[in-house]
Amino acid sequence: MSLLHSRSWVREAVRIIEADANRSADTHLHVFPLPAEWGVDLYLKDESVHPTGSLKHRLARSLFLYGLVNGQIGPDTVLVEASSGSTAVSEAYFARMLGLRFITVVPRSTSPEKIALIEFYGGECHYVDRAPDMYPEAERLASECNGHYLDQFTYAERATDWRGNNNIAESVYAQMQSERHPVPAWIVVGAGTGGTSATFGRYVRYKRNTTKIAVVDPENSSFFGAWQTGALDYSTGMPSRIEGIGRPRVEPSFVPGVIDEMFQVPDAASLAAIRVLRERTGHWAGGSTGTNLFGAFTLISRMVSEGQAGSVVTLLCDGGERYANTYYDDAWLAQKNIDIAPYLEKYREFLVSGKLAPEA
Ligand SMILES: Cc1ncc(COP(=O)(O)O)c(C=O)c1O
Repeated sequence: MSLLHSRSWVREAVRIIEADANRSADTHLHVFPLPAEWGVDLYLKDESVHPTGSLKHRLARSLFLYGLVNGQIGPDTVLVEASSGSTAVSEAYFARMLGLRFITVVPRSTSPEKIALIEFYGGECHYVDRAPDMYPEAERLASECNGHYLDQFTYAERATDWRGNNNIAESVYAQMQSERHPVPAWIVVGAGTGGTSATFGRYVRYKRNTTKIAVVDPENSSFFGAWQTGALDYSTGMPSRIEGIGRPRVEPSFVPGVIDEMFQVPDAASLAAIRVLRERTGHWAGGSTGTNLFGAFTLISRMVSEGQAGSVVTLLCDGGERYANTYYDDAWLAQKNIDIAPYLEKYREFLVSGKLAPEA
């Protein structure tokens, strides 16, 4: 890989990516309606409206700029990633914009919907049989084709500017300014790379405000155990059923030191919550948004019982249309033995009483 890429090509590449940002409006902050007398307000930051449909549009943009300014991406660089999900969709979009080849290493079990989305933006999928093989295979592929491994899991926390620069946290606080509780008591997010929680956690400390960060983790994921025990080598070796979040190992971009509380969330709870979201707001979201909502409802139930007024902000990470044949398909849920009925009842009761029945 020639170390020195032509500066004029890099200048133009950065201009093209910045122009994309300039053409995009900021993502909305929706209100989830709760009884006013509770004194607690809930908001969802809608990242599904990004051009590539998820919060990963921001990360992909940051990873491309990071690679460009580091001299790692040039006019004939082949770009490689290890992602079967939202990140690969967004990276394919930026690679096409720069006229670069993009290959993502994905498990053979990846949903046809996700493959179609990656290929729609011109990305190529390279298959491995086992999910853990994605990382070494991506590294091998990048060195074999003289390419650059974007490596979201390692660089997510480094490529994103946590001080501001229109990062997701700065956008949330700007959009909360006129609310009755402008500084959230809690921000609730999930972790895939860990980059989003790191950005929020660093930003609230840098801005010296009182907001606390809660991170939700789905079944089988390693983050919760690692945070609880402090052992960053904690590993379940198990994949998560909630796309985008939960990991078989703790990823390098996970920063436990900025997390005030974590919740391990049953998959049935996550998948029931997105049905209630659609029922109450019409918004159609992916599973990781449901995991977020479980965390938000749990904290709101606690605030109501303690008479604490305030606001809670969480993320709508990607759109539900991607999961029409899975999370929104009752036959698929039955086949996976996921019974959402008890949680639907629990949430509907919570939205009246403010009390979320504790986990059995
Ligand atoms: C749909 C979805 N939700 C949440 C996340 C978690 O974001 P992060 O990787 O910043 O931890 C991801 C990450 O891939 C995602 O795809």
